[in-house]
Amino acid sequence: MTYDETLHLLEKYNQEHLLKFYNELDEHQKENLLNQISKIDFEYEKSLYENKDDISIIDNDIAPIQVISKEKIDTEKYDRIGEEYIKTGKLAVCSMAGGQGTRLGFDGPKGCYILDLDKPTSIFETIVKKLQEAYDKYNVCIYWYIMTSNQNHNETVGFFEQNNYFGYDKNHIIFFNQGELPLLDIRGKIALRDKANIFMAPDGNGGIFRALKNENIIEHMKNNNIKYLAVGNVDNILINMIDSTILGLMVDEQKDLASKSFMKPTPQGKWGVFCKKNGKPQVIEYIETPKELIEARNENNELLYGDAHFGCNYFDIDLLERISTEKLPMHAACKKNSILENSGEYDFSNTYKFEAFIFDSFEKANDVLIYRVKKDEEFAPIKNKEGDESPETAVELYKKFYGI
Ligand code: UD1
Repeated sequence: MTYDETLHLLEKYNQEHLLKFYNELDEHQKENLLNQISKIDFEYEKSLYENKDDISIIDNDIAPIQVISKEKIDTEKYDRIGEEYIKTGKLAVCSMAGGQGTRLGFDGPKGCYILDLDKPTSIFETIVKKLQEAYDKYNVCIYWYIMTSNQNHNETVGFFEQNNYFGYDKNHIIFFNQGELPLLDIRGKIALRDKANIFMAPDGNGGIFRALKNENIIEHMKNNNIKYLAVGNVDNILINMIDSTILGLMVDEQKDLASKSFMKPTPQGKWGVFCKKNGKPQVIEYIETPKELIEARNENNELLYGDAHFGCNYFDIDLLERISTEKLPMHAACKKNSILENSGEYDFSNTYKFEAFIFDSFEKANDVLIYRVKKDEEFAPIKNKEGDESPETAVELYKKFYGI
């Protein structure tokens, strides 16, 4: 688009401030800015702003959901089935590593964070360890897809190259980039990061479905005869994605989606909880869960919504493909960011960031399995710089689990 065409478009949507500093830019920056603007779906941005307060669970019918507990099943039976799928390469894993890790305060991709284990080890390396173990056990090189975002893609790929892919076959590690959306200020104006750039942010981990399609990962999985994809948060160093039991259960019970849970030790905790929403499996994110629901108990004094979602989800490939063509709801988070104001000054202002959540896809599945495991065995998250869910607590849990 030319400058005039762009200005015309911006005027239609009251966003012409994006060109306010255009004349101060060099030719390359000018072209780049016009290009950034041409990629924005202004109609969509407008609807995001107008509907930003719409996600509320109050009007929905919320009920507890049934889960299958690892402790109560014949794991051997399901392991046999699952192992067959793993050995024949039908399971692939995917780490969602496109997040910004703001709470951790680490200036780099979260997966590159170095942990104080028996030797300094990055988060990504802890996943390689699992893949290597699976290789030794099943004699199969499992595909590992890694979702990055524009902010950390090059750094992530560079980290693997510098470290020679940690000894794993580099042809089995595939990076793909998730989408991004502009931040909006409180009046609905698209924010500028500086005079030459729109302020963009990753579109949430629910952006994975579209990214899998757009980056031809679904096609790659099909070509390699992969039937199931285990998708995990990158920031949980005890994550167990190569799990034959849950896979066997999924296959045996013909579920197209399975999600792991653990029982919350207390009502509090920054975890989404499983429930049924209008009869369909769902997770209500911790920031959106009303207090009455968090604390609700049954006649045996057990939490009614005590099963926490911790980002270890299994998708059948046909389901993935279906979800990838559909739109997920967008959740708005209002956070302060340093944005460029029309005055030419930077201001630390409230902005809206829009994110899709991976579990909003659950209602699109035909049949969902919620599988409860033990928290201490599969969950050691790294979210905060210190205190709860910090590198220190995660390393402690990790060492305890592995006895090191
Ligand atoms: C997440 C879950 C929450 C769960 C908790 C357990 C979601 C929306 N929430 O919360 O239900 O109880 O973990 O620890 O999943 N990511 C991307 N791209 C993005 C945003 C995030 O790849 O645009 C990745 C992150 O790198 C991370 C994972 O998604 O691996 C979780 O994202 P985060 O936004 O940190 O969610 P939490 O608030 O920790």
